[in-house]
Amino acid sequence: AGSCPGDYRMSRLIVISNRVSVPKAAGAAGAQGGLAVALNSALREHRGIWFGWSGQETQEFTGHLDMQRNDDVTTATIDLEPQDIDEYYNGYANRTLWPLFHFRIDLTEYNRDFGEGYERVNRRFADSVHPLIEPDDLVWVHDYHLLPLGSMLRAKGVNNRMGLFLHTPWPPTRLLVSLPFHEKLVTSMLEYDVIGFQTTEWLESFLHYVQKELGLKVNLDNSISYQGRRVVARAFPIGIDHAEFTEAAASEEAQEAHDRLKSSVRGRKLLIGVDRLDYSKGLGERFQSFGRFLTDHPAEAGAVVLLQIAPPSRGDVASYQQIREDLERKTGHINGAHADVAFVPIRYVNRGYPRAQLAGFYRAANIGLVTPLRDGMNLVAKEFVAAQDPEDPGVLILSQFAGAALQLTDALLVNPHSVEHVSEAIRRALDMPLAERQRRHAKLLASVRDFDVIHWRNAFVSALEGKGNNGGRNAEE
Ligand code: ADP
Ligand code: F6P
Repeated sequence: AGSCPGDYRMSRLIVISNRVSVPKAAGAAGAQGGLAVALNSALREHRGIWFGWSGQETQEFTGHLDMQRNDDVTTATIDLEPQDIDEYYNGYANRTLWPLFHFRIDLTEYNRDFGEGYERVNRRFADSVHPLIEPDDLVWVHDYHLLPLGSMLRAKGVNNRMGLFLHTPWPPTRLLVSLPFHEKLVTSMLEYDVIGFQTTEWLESFLHYVQKELGLKVNLDNSISYQGRRVVARAFPIGIDHAEFTEAAASEEAQEAHDRLKSSVRGRKLLIGVDRLDYSKGLGERFQSFGRFLTDHPAEAGAVVLLQIAPPSRGDVASYQQIREDLERKTGHINGAHADVAFVPIRYVNRGYPRAQLAGFYRAANIGLVTPLRDGMNLVAKEFVAAQDPEDPGVLILSQFAGAALQLTDALLVNPHSVEHVSEAIRRALDMPLAERQRRHAKLLASVRDFDVIHWRNAFVSALEGKGNNGGRNAEE
């Protein structure tokens, strides 16, 4: 067992995820997914190995491991063949499971090649990582790309404690049963010792499926009895690295970004959105809600600006190309209707920014608009809260369909499908008295600070070690 600050001792961790993404340098605009940001922070304090796909392609898969030591984290990566990337990453992961898990069966594609590619790549992951696993290691697998990996490792004789954490929602049983071979996929997950979800809502959907479709017994403590073993299923809401983010927000780089943005809006009120360009984030509905606000409050036209930062994501998948085109059309439409010679209401930016600059942008905003149609958790909501000036904080408008809504109950919670509802929330946020803003922010900040990524990691790792406590605190309370 290795040791780390705070006398917290633990076995070596083998973290496995689709992508391995260690920032190249402090402050670099590196990882843009919630998972990458959270894992960097968790692994930095641990003597562990992070295994996954390099993001590179090779014409012929060799299983060669590229091992690198970087900022206390050892990474081990493999390259994949173009067919693997097409069928596993763009295919089953992002054309089948991602839309299905975000309740979008209209976008979900079922294709036999995708299923075969998914299985093949999971097997390649298992073959490649297997030699790295030592008897006392804890194996922690992440996300929807790798659901059957644990069962493949078991088949190779790995008896270690193994856990899976799903960063996305888990869909209702009625939707999940539309997936061909759903029973096989979910049954394979029961080879893990611990299965973690972002919220109790996704956990309950999973347990419902397990009882109804697999006919298994769920015990009072939510564990599942399966083939003489006990599989622990629990909610572990992920958080941000609050200390790191607060430090970034206090940096000179953040201050410069803040000042640059503030001076560019020239006294206007600023709304900010920061999301991967993904249809689950509700960006089209958000733009329309802002358009509705401008139409309903002509006196405000020219007095409010929406800055939407949305780096492109999964650009080889058609539904992502379509959302991108749709947003360009909507931005043009709303700006055309409400712009003036010296003013454009929506600033739409398709690029990533270093975290310190992002923190400065959040702090410059009067309103954070976080309105996904469905989201496992949503870390942007938490970053927005952490970056605010407690003396004069901005207001968080948060979708009731983000996992974060179960914790951040002092945000203005909205139905992102209702342009009227979101438009009214913008009005309310702009009019909110300072005392109410401070009161709400203090409560939000306490939750973001107390249930940070370290709390999440400790809770999951304790469960994985078989200790089964979460520090006596329920993160959704
Ligand atoms: P998801 O995991 O679906 O992408 P989250 O909101 O949970 O959604 O996490 C997104 C993470 O990516 C956040 O940490 C956010 O700061 C980061 N991110 C999103 N857009 C950008 C951007 N333009 N530049 C830098 N980081 C970004
Ligand atoms: O959090 C969901 C997630 O799919 C992560 O697994 C991933 O790191 C992130 O979004 C970004 O997605 P991608 O790796 O497909 O760019």
